[in-house]
Amino acid sequence: MQIIDGKAHALRLRADIAQQVIARTAAGARAPALAVVLVGEDPASQVYVRSKIAACAEAGITSIEHRRDATLSEAELLALVDQLNRDPAVDGILVQLPLPAQIDSARVIAAIDPDKDVDGFHPVNAGRLATGLDGFVPCTPLGCLRLLQSTLGDLSGAEALVIGRSNIVGRPMASLLISASATVTVAHSRSRDLPALTRRADIVIAAVGRPEMVRGAWLKPGCTVIDVGVNRVPKESGQGTRLVGDVAFSEAADVAAHITPVPGGVGPMTIACLLENTLKAAARA
Ligand code: GUN
Repeated sequence: MQIIDGKAHALRLRADIAQQVIARTAAGARAPALAVVLVGEDPASQVYVRSKIAACAEAGITSIEHRRDATLSEAELLALVDQLNRDPAVDGILVQLPLPAQIDSARVIAAIDPDKDVDGFHPVNAGRLATGLDGFVPCTPLGCLRLLQSTLGDLSGAEALVIGRSNIVGRPMASLLISASATVTVAHSRSRDLPALTRRADIVIAAVGRPEMVRGAWLKPGCTVIDVGVNRVPKESGQGTRLVGDVAFSEAADVAAHITPVPGGVGPMTIACLLENTLKAAARA
């Protein structure tokens, strides 16, 4: 069994992006610039935004942080997005989710210029991905695809099971796998026999947000498991918490040929792919 080292893959990708940024600025272009919008005090969002900004700095990408209090109105956020859309010094725009309850996230996402939408959440980018056109692909499923391709090479004909149908992971993941010529099944909370679906799969991508839901006994021997889950659970000692994925790791590690750990698997690739998308946005401009 091989543990897929997402952190090592991500570091290589980040180094490669940093080189491309150097080449770009050496040729006289300005550094790529990412606007990061954080509304409110959600602790997980603060941690994510801090990591994204640090990764930008290390790759030579300029980041411009826009922090607003949790009381911000939807109209005020839309006005900020509009200002960033028009700003020629901004290549990419990321509005960290979740947004406070008074703001309709879908409306905010739809207001972002699709050609600055480095999260790939705008319906135009979702449509481009679904129809096989070039556009921005959401960072987490893009990172998963990169890990799969570097672990397995060609995915054509592989039986892939995506568990979860969110706009951020499950749906775009299914589109990417279809484009890579895998045979794709999407399972979700209403799927009838998840263990049976899982047993058929050469590739399992778990993105449901339920700690250790996928059991080792469900897996086909020799399969590849990509665990997108990030779930905080109490430690057995009762003191503090630890992170676990959507897959029962130690059980799965006995059956699978390749598996991503949590943490250190998909998470670092998400950030590396955000840098990749920001560089792509700058190159289009
Ligand atoms: N919240 C959780 N994941 C993400 C992400 O990939 N992008 C944004 N903008 N918000 C998130």
